[in-house]
Amino acid sequence: MINFGKYRYDEHLESERLSTRKLVIDDVPAWSVFFEDYQATRFLPDHNFPNTEARAKDWIVRQLNRYQDGLYGLQALILKDTGEFIGMCGLITQDVEGVQELEIGYHLFKEFRGKGYATEAAQLFKHYAFTQQLNESVISIIHEKNTDSRKVAQRNGMTLEKACFWRNLNVVIYRAFAR
Ligand SMILES: CC(C)(COP(=O)(O)OP(=O)(O)OC[C@H]1O[C@@H](n2cnc3c(N)ncnc32)[C@H](O)[C@@H]1OP(=O)(O)O)[C@@H](O)C(=O)NCCC(=O)NCCS
Repeated sequence: MINFGKYRYDEHLESERLSTRKLVIDDVPAWSVFFEDYQATRFLPDHNFPNTEARAKDWIVRQLNRYQDGLYGLQALILKDTGEFIGMCGLITQDVEGVQELEIGYHLFKEFRGKGYATEAAQLFKHYAFTQQLNESVISIIHEKNTDSRKVAQRNGMTLEKACFWRNLNVVIYRAFAR
């Protein structure tokens, strides 16, 4: 059983430029475009899917199951100015070396990178996790060579804790504590 704080993950969060909503199965066609970009997928756990649509469906169904099971789940990031679906961010429960952790994950479509959106979203979910007292710390699990993701973690106030082997990847764990 997860010991994290009471599961209340229905809110639509908002930051200066972004809002969030839960994913729906109709997001699959749009999300399949994410997997067409090698830069996006090269640091993610490898899966054998027949096509990007199948990979996107598996990804989104996993988030829907997380919502259902009270295990948080990534949410869609929406650009407030235009209503565009620009990527995903959110809280995910993860097992790291036998310890249940609360992770902040983030992924952007390539045309929305380099504008600070991932950092803004990650900060939003860190703030949410700590104000809701979900856990005393949050982590990000990052492929050791994923420099852009490491920079997001640093800008999100996280510090490098350790390197480890996780789901067949050499990763680093960044962590921030609630004050
Ligand atoms: C990881 C990922 C989300 C990082 O995206 P990103 O665009 O580099 O990060 P941000 O959205 O926070 O943008 C930060 C960059 O925008 C720049 N920027 C431009 N305008 C900005 C603004 N108004 N505010 C803040 N930063 C701004 C920053 O200087 C920074 O650039 P730098 O890294 O060259 O210094 C993205 O590379 C991605 O989706 N990768 C594929 C999936 C993935 O690897 N996910 C992570 C798995 S652990």
